Amino acid sequence: MVQRVRKAVLPVAGLGTRFLPATKAMPKEMLTVVDRPLIQYAVEECLAAGIDEFVFVTGRNKGAIEDHFDSAYELEATLQQRGKAPELKQARDSALKPGNSVFTRQQQPLGLGHAVWCARPWIGDEPFAVLLPDELTISSPTCTAQLVAAHEKTGGSVIAVMEVPRDQTRSYGIAAVKAEKDGLAEMTGLVEKPKPEDAPSTLAWIGRCVLEAGVFEYLARHETGAGGEIQLTDAMARMIGKRPFHAMRYTGRRYDCGNRMGFLEANVAIALHRSDTAADTRALLDRLLKG
Ligand code: UTP
Repeated sequence: MVQRVRKAVLPVAGLGTRFLPATKAMPKEMLTVVDRPLIQYAVEECLAAGIDEFVFVTGRNKGAIEDHFDSAYELEATLQQRGKAPELKQARDSALKPGNSVFTRQQQPLGLGHAVWCARPWIGDEPFAVLLPDELTISSPTCTAQLVAAHEKTGGSVIAVMEVPRDQTRSYGIAAVKAEKDGLAEMTGLVEKPKPEDAPSTLAWIGRCVLEAGVFEYLARHETGAGGEIQLTDAMARMIGKRPFHAMRYTGRRYDCGNRMGFLEANVAIALHRSDTAADTRALLDRLLKG
């Protein structure tokens, strides 16, 4: 029987250099899309998939993330005194279940693979989800719920992929796959940041996966790859062919909030999509575009 996915690793130790100066003293993952930080979207995505245990791999300057998921006593007391019930609910809803999350530090940003390896003592021998919070996905069921459902069928490891233009393969881990059936394909390889002419396909990993704990054995070798970093995709590539490994075509919207234009797009798109902000956002855009 396939073991249920109960835990998620959220690597948030990166420096966020593409967002300087915003990220000089503030974590990139606390950048706000409409009214909530990126990291909260990732956590809510997990909760909707039945995952409620979290390992946050943090670094220096990331304390705001821990505070965000804690209760905020003074704020809550003030809101209560002032009778601001909806605001009080907003403040309380982002607190995580007591004891269900750990915050561990990656002392040096040696790469995503190294960040995930830092989570190993809290994962043990279970399959676990990984979400890069600067990739924002919106769908029902959530991307992570789609992955968990796929994992129940296939076991092993499953990564979420989407088609990207061939001239952008250098920005992604690109999957080599066998024939696809119902959005799932067995993987034969995974290449980090290939040149367009060398890319085995145009199916890009979008920062969401369910992995077997066996990945830690490969990550423990601390081998560096593209950009001199310890890459998660290299460790995944080593498991392919030895253990069940599938790519799942994600159906939903996705915004790369790790760069400025993707982040701006996410803000506008989500504001246009939400019933409480759609009409005002459309009117605002009309006014701005008319100059
Ligand atoms: P990015 O590749 O976007 O790197 O990391 P970054 O440092 O966050 O941002 P830039 O490129 O300098 O602007 C993808 C995800 O992996 C995490 C990041 O926090 C982000 O969620 N990460 C990356 C780590 O946790 N540790 C690392 O050593 C590298």
